[in-house]
Amino acid sequence: MKLLIVGANGTIGKAVVEEMKDTAEIIQASRSNSTIQVDITSTASIQHMFEEVGEIDALVCTAGAAHFGTVEELTPELNRIAVESKLLGQVNLVLLGLPYIRDKGSITLITGILMDDPIVKGASSAMANGGVRAFVTSSAIELPRGIRINSVSPNMLEESKEKYGPFFEGYEPVPAQRVALAFRKSILGAQTGQSYTAY
Ligand SMILES: NC(=O)c1ccc[n+]([C@@H]2O[C@H](COP(=O)([O-])OP(=O)(O)OC[C@H]3O[C@@H](n4cnc5c(N)ncnc54)[C@H](OP(=O)(O)O)[C@@H]3O)[C@@H](O)[C@H]2O)c1
Repeated sequence: MKLLIVGANGTIGKAVVEEMKDTAEIIQASRSNSTIQVDITSTASIQHMFEEVGEIDALVCTAGAAHFGTVEELTPELNRIAVESKLLGQVNLVLLGLPYIRDKGSITLITGILMDDPIVKGASSAMANGGVRAFVTSSAIELPRGIRINSVSPNMLEESKEKYGPFFEGYEPVPAQRVALAFRKSILGAQTGQSYTAY
């Protein structure tokens, strides 16, 4: 099985690499420090990545940025970060990646808990997460050739407590390995159109 992970050198990406390394041939992609360089905010860059990588069995995305700020502070420009990276970046991976995914392959995207359990300063990220989840639910019923699509919505990770802890007071952190298991379930299971929570 050939598995392409976009965001492979991030906190979640590294855990998915670790979880899947004995099961799949993994191709690691990210903006920097990976075998394959890609910027998911650029359709040309995504297209170039797929041409370089060729056919795959599974596509995973653990990349996607968003601006964290209150709604009053949020400007249309700052809100575009989440739209162009976490939302359209991931959707465009699907649209441009489909021809490269083999029959009965899979796609797994990333969302996050704050779309269902809101935090202060999380509206822009929540907007992107909700869009990704809706796209997954909807596109699952018409993806061709038995290709499946799911998303994973993690709680704050234990490994990210220092970085995100102040935003998520009272949330129970989840180990990265448990989040990686949700990706494994999506890649190796049979379900489609699901949003797996890793809380
Ligand atoms: N960590 C958490 O607690 C948590 C909880 C719930 C949801 N999430 C979501 O999960 C996703 C990943 O989180 P993380 O903590 O693993 O992030 P992270 O450690 O910052 O890693 C992000 C990864 O994505 C890559 N990336 C970022 N922007 C990119 C772009 N435009 N094009 C291509 N690759 C790009 C980075 O590559 P470079 O390093 O090369 O730039 C890196 O590999 C985010 O969307 C986040 O909102 C995280």
